[in-house]
Amino acid sequence: MINPYLPQEAEIVERIEEARDIFTLRLRFTDPAVHRAYSFAPGQFNMLWLPGVGEIPISIVSDPEDEHMYNHTIRGVGRVSNGLRTLRQGDRLGVRGPYGRGWPMQGAVGRDVVIATGGLGCAPAVSMINYVVRRREQFGRLIIMQGIKHSNDLIWRSSYEQWAELPDTQVLLAAGESGPQWPWAQGNIMVLIDRADFDPENCTAMLCGPQGMMVAVTDHLMARGVSDDDIWLSMERNMQCAIGHCGHCQIGAKFVCRDGPVFNYAEIADLLSEPGL
Ligand SMILES: Cc1cc2nc3c(=O)[nH]c(=O)nc-3n(C[C@H](O)[C@H](O)[C@H](O)COP(=O)(O)OP(=O)(O)OC[C@H]3O[C@@H](n4cnc5c(N)ncnc54)[C@H](O)[C@@H]3O)c2cc1C
Ligand code: FES
Repeated sequence: MINPYLPQEAEIVERIEEARDIFTLRLRFTDPAVHRAYSFAPGQFNMLWLPGVGEIPISIVSDPEDEHMYNHTIRGVGRVSNGLRTLRQGDRLGVRGPYGRGWPMQGAVGRDVVIATGGLGCAPAVSMINYVVRRREQFGRLIIMQGIKHSNDLIWRSSYEQWAELPDTQVLLAAGESGPQWPWAQGNIMVLIDRADFDPENCTAMLCGPQGMMVAVTDHLMARGVSDDDIWLSMERNMQCAIGHCGHCQIGAKFVCRDGPVFNYAEIADLLSEPGL
């Protein structure tokens, strides 16, 4: 029987410094057969293992159709993520995955797509944005909203600028604090929602970022007439097994690693209102 906890070896093909504390690792499995067999859906994640340090869940940010390599964008916050930060091109690490349920891309076909992200919450959204962009004719309007604390924290600035040029696409960015080169809004993401031009009765909203931000955005979207079952949230919890065994990631009866990380709001609204969850 194959051990589900056994990572596969992957090599860093490229390392990109994105911003203060944030970096992207472009990876390829060293075994060509493993690399060929690997596929994922937007919104899924891998467990990255740094031998002797630990293992953490990280979203896959590349387009699922890019067969050459797959990317992880990581903020260094603690032991493992800062350990990964020290790796360079050519170094190797362990990867197992992909895990979890991704974004409802098929259900969004023919509808407006509203994306709201906060902080590095944009990481799980990037592969989904690229998915819509590559299949632009299948979807209605595309609204991309991103809130960050400081304008210096914005990564993928050129991607946002390119997405803003696409037909039927609106890119709205806001920073709590900003430097002189910031052409977008001041404030948090709430200031953007009323400027977004979409059909509340025919849209799929996809949110990621801090839980409080997602709940506040959900309230705002519902006040604009979006139904709770058209709103999807990517949740974060501490994880160990990533396969629904250890219970570390539980929210009530749900396992974020197996039943999520993407949940329909109607499915978890009661759980989110419970204190401490
Ligand atoms: C499904 C899923 C997808 C994820 N995708 C990404 C991703 O694409 N990119 C990414 O950078 N992270 C992502 N994360 C978060 C990432 O897994 C954690 O940042 C990581 O587990 C931290 O481990 P560590 O050993 O580096 O830090 P630890 O040593 O465990 O923590 C050190 C300190 O950092 C704090 N901390 C831990 N996590 C975070 C956090 N997310 N933000 C701020 N402070 C934190 C802790 O409270 C603690 O004080 C994802 C998490 C989940 C569940
Ligand atoms: S991480 Fe073990 S059950 Fe989810």
